[in-house]
Amino acid sequence: MRTKKGCQLRERISFLNKSSWGFPFISRLDIVAAPFRRGHDSLFSLPPVLFSRAFLANPRAIGAVCPSSARLARALAAKVPIPGNNGFVLELGAGTGSVTAALLERGIDRNRLVIVERDKLLAKHLKERFPDVAVINGNAVKLCELCNRFDRKVNCVVSSLPLLSLPPATVAALGETLPKLLGQEGFLVQYTYRLTNAPSPLAPYMDRISSQRVWGNIPPAHVEVFRSRI
Ligand SMILES: C[S@@+](CC[C@H](N)C(=O)[O-])C[C@H]1O[C@@H](n2cnc3c(N)ncnc32)[C@H](O)[C@@H]1O
Repeated sequence: MRTKKGCQLRERISFLNKSSWGFPFISRLDIVAAPFRRGHDSLFSLPPVLFSRAFLANPRAIGAVCPSSARLARALAAKVPIPGNNGFVLELGAGTGSVTAALLERGIDRNRLVIVERDKLLAKHLKERFPDVAVINGNAVKLCELCNRFDRKVNCVVSSLPLLSLPPATVAALGETLPKLLGQEGFLVQYTYRLTNAPSPLAPYMDRISSQRVWGNIPPAHVEVFRSRI
């Protein structure tokens, strides 16, 4: 005989399975871990744990096995010009916030930084870690379009988006939108884990003006700066 509690539990399991993008074992892991998690919230909010969970739930959207190292974050931040009075810096795919921390350390004003993160738990973590910075839980492609429409001056976009594993349509949408958003003067600072000299997925849309390898990261990264072609 089916009890009401049993039905509710089955509904919950099926909802979680549907919500985890084809990785049902993560949902089951969540259920098994729930009682443990209640008593160990601080452990589950540690950046490496949050990052691993997000990676297991959706590896293509995370595109890395661990957060960016401090060395990579500093190399990215060093390429970002300090925005003037009417400009701001947009960080895409901020993850656990290593790059955000390096941007603030570099001297970017908290009021001139907007960060966008698609994963809900990572966005929540970013809001807690950087309470004075504007954190948007959303899709970078749509937000780029939105900024474009509102005619706000974006001096620089710093992106940790995993271009090599994101769907080609997403990369194409970013490639179309970013040059318009940045105009003639803005820069895009982007890293990928390409170890060969193959062109960046953004090469058809923007001009590369510099490139640097950063070996102190797992895996080593390729930091590139792009400018609009328009
Ligand atoms: C390589 S990880 C970022 C690592 C980050 N630098 C750190 O140290 O934690 C890529 C991030 O991009 C986010 N992401 C992927 N697609 C996105 C999208 N369309 N819009 C916004 N964020 C996205 C992922 O959720 C993930 O947090």
